[in-house]
Amino acid sequence: MLEIKNLKIEIENKEVLKGLDLNVKNGEIHVLMGPNGAGKSTICKAIMKYPNYKITEGTILYNEEDITKKSTNEIASMGLYYISQTPVEIEGITNAEALRLAMSSQKKSVDIFTFNKKCTLICEKLKMPKNFLHRPINVGMSGGERKKNELLGMWLLEPSFLLLDEIDSGLDVDAIKIVSENLKEYHEQTNASMLIITHQQSIIDLLKPDYVHILKDGKIEESGNLTLAKKIEKEGFLEKSRVNIVSESGKNE
Ligand SMILES: Nc1ncnc2c1ncn2[C@@H]1O[C@H](COP(=O)(O)OP(=O)(O)OP(=O)(O)O)[C@@H](O)[C@H]1O
Ligand SMILES: [Mg+2]
Repeated sequence: MLEIKNLKIEIENKEVLKGLDLNVKNGEIHVLMGPNGAGKSTICKAIMKYPNYKITEGTILYNEEDITKKSTNEIASMGLYYISQTPVEIEGITNAEALRLAMSSQKKSVDIFTFNKKCTLICEKLKMPKNFLHRPINVGMSGGERKKNELLGMWLLEPSFLLLDEIDSGLDVDAIKIVSENLKEYHEQTNASMLIITHQQSIIDLLKPDYVHILKDGKIEESGNLTLAKKIEKEGFLEKSRVNIVSESGKNE
C-alpha cells in the first residue's frame, strides 16, 4: 500500500533521511522507534510534503501510484491522514467548519443532522467535551486535548492510512488508554494501515503491530516484531559495543 524506496530528504542543506526503504501493506500496523533527531517526524512530513523538505532521491508510492511529486491536498484526498507530533493552532475556522468542508470535498453526506449526531457519538468515544467542535482548530487546547481533537477528524474522514507521530506525547495515563482504544477500534472497523511513531509500550501492547522498525541516522537500522520493542524498552538505543566504557584503571573496556 505504502512503498518508500531509497528516500533521501534534505532540510536546510542537511541530509536527514539517507536512503529509507519501508513497505506497509494493506491493513498492517507498523511501529517506528528511534532516538531523538533520527528523522522519524521527517518521514511523515516528507510523505505529506511539508515545505522545505526536499526529496533529493527515491520514490513514495501509495496504492501503486507515485505520490513523490503530489501536493499535500492531493495526498490527503487519497486517504492519508497525518497527526503531527505538535498539532498546530489554526485561528479563524472552527473544527466543525473545517471538518464539514473536508467531508464535502470527499463527497460525503454532510447534512447538519447526521453530522451533529456523528460528532456527539465520537466526542463520547473520545471523552471530549462536545463544545470543542465549535472552537477554532486546536486554539487554546492543551497538548493532550489537541491529540484527541485530531482523532475526531480520523473518525469523520475515515482515512485508509494513518501516520501517527507520537500520538501519546502530552497525554495522561487515562487519555493514552482512550486514544489507543480508539485506534484499535478504528483499525478493527476499517482495516486501515498505520505507521505509528511511539515509544509508549502500552500503545504497542494494545495495538500489536505487525512490524517494529528502528530508525537511526536517517535509515532503518533494524526491523522485527514486538520482541524488538521490548528489547529497546529494556536496553535503549545505544549499542553496548559502541559505548566506550573507561574502567577505574583508566583502560578502555
Ligand atoms: N526545519 C529544519 N531545519 C533544520 N533542521 C531540521 C529541520 N527540521 C528537522 N531538522 C533536523 O532533522 C533531524 C531529524 O528531525 P526529526 O524531527 O525528524 O527527528 P525525530 O526522529 O522525529 O526526533 P524526536 O524523537 O525528537 O521527535 C534533526 O536533527 C532536526 O534538527
Ligand atoms: Mg519527531
